[in-house]
Amino acid sequence: MDHNRRDFPDGFLFGTATSAYQIEGHAHGGAGPTHWDSFAATPGNVAGAENGAIACDHYHRWEEDLDLVAGAGFDVYRFSTSWARVMPEGRGRINAEGLDFYDSLVDGMLERGLKPAATLYHWELPSALADLGGWRNRDIAGWFGDFAEVVMGRIGDRLWSAAPINEPWCVGWLSHFLGHHAPGLRDIRATARAMHHVMLAHGTAIQAMRGLGMGNLGGVFNLEYSTPVDNSPEAAGAAARYDAIYNRFFLSGAFLGTYPEEVLSGLAPHLPDGWQDDFDVITAPLDWCGINYYTRKLIGPDAGPWPHLREVEGPLPKTAMGWEIYPDGLEAFLSRVHRDYAKGLPIHVTENGMANRDSIKNGQVGDPERTAYLNEHLASVRRAIEAGVPVEGYYMWSLLDNYEWAFGYDKRFGLVHVDFDTLKRTPKASYHAVATALSR
Ligand code: FCB
Repeated sequence: MDHNRRDFPDGFLFGTATSAYQIEGHAHGGAGPTHWDSFAATPGNVAGAENGAIACDHYHRWEEDLDLVAGAGFDVYRFSTSWARVMPEGRGRINAEGLDFYDSLVDGMLERGLKPAATLYHWELPSALADLGGWRNRDIAGWFGDFAEVVMGRIGDRLWSAAPINEPWCVGWLSHFLGHHAPGLRDIRATARAMHHVMLAHGTAIQAMRGLGMGNLGGVFNLEYSTPVDNSPEAAGAAARYDAIYNRFFLSGAFLGTYPEEVLSGLAPHLPDGWQDDFDVITAPLDWCGINYYTRKLIGPDAGPWPHLREVEGPLPKTAMGWEIYPDGLEAFLSRVHRDYAKGLPIHVTENGMANRDSIKNGQVGDPERTAYLNEHLASVRRAIEAGVPVEGYYMWSLLDNYEWAFGYDKRFGLVHVDFDTLKRTPKASYHAVATALSR
């Protein structure tokens, strides 16, 4: 790689990230059904109707996987806890085996010198709660707070950091407006409610974890750089609306206690009564801000209903997801989040990485595209640090090839290749490059 550990400030943390449903194997260990299981079982939602029943079988192979994290020289391992594994119906009954699993996993990280960074929710909502309206139901904030207390009551004493919800935009907009993720709705009213309740649940869980005496709590926001398709005022307006919906709504809610006007112009009629009174909870103080960054989007105006915009295919080189590679966007977001929202708090790049068309040849996986992607984004992080932004960590998505949601197992994001027939792990060339860089 172009960078070594010593090119970053002392104490800068390198990590890798995964999530529960994408790797564990949800069929094992007494986990309850989730909305991703039923979404995937509905034709047309997921490539090949694939689901997370087996995934990487991390549930049985976690020790080997933690050895891989430690073997690359990472400092932090970001993982998530499955609500339905811990509370199969989402409320009430606790699955002791599920809590035992996360307890052992955290101890396994500590034994290997890894800092455990937990995310409470990375998208697999228990079906019993989906039946009650899921994120559309305001009661979800309380249910989520109770889940936070149960799981953190067991592992919170040994975590290095914790965050409530991975990528609120995906939980809200992607899943309720675009319908690309479970529950697959395309409804503006459902969207408005889900977006607000996600924020309320975020704040409620932060308060619950503080109540347990936990520290180093943050939020993990996904940001996508929005570029107008041309120089017209209409394109500028559309790109600004995209930016408001995608990037500013959640940051603004959590850090400023307001929602952007451009979003309220479309969603206000559909927000739940009294939403303005929830910001005391939503702005529960955080200790750090996490940014997940992958790409940018070219945005143009559209004659259809609000938000009157459309995505346009861009000219930059693309990953196997079809996502443009745009490292400058990361530097821009780090500066902007520091200046406008987190204001002095440490910032961690909690996800960054790429899907590539990787395959094994003679027992090896050559993925120079991934190493180049990481190099360019790490250069962007270094520029932000030099400009005075307090970036304190950078975590690669992902440790393993895994269940890439609606794309099934086809999109390979891992530093480690997984053969989904045998479940054999093979570190790719990028894994070895990272290990060398982190040892220097
Ligand atoms: C992020 C998700 C993660 C994975 C990557 C590619 O939005 O947090 O689960 O899907 O994108």
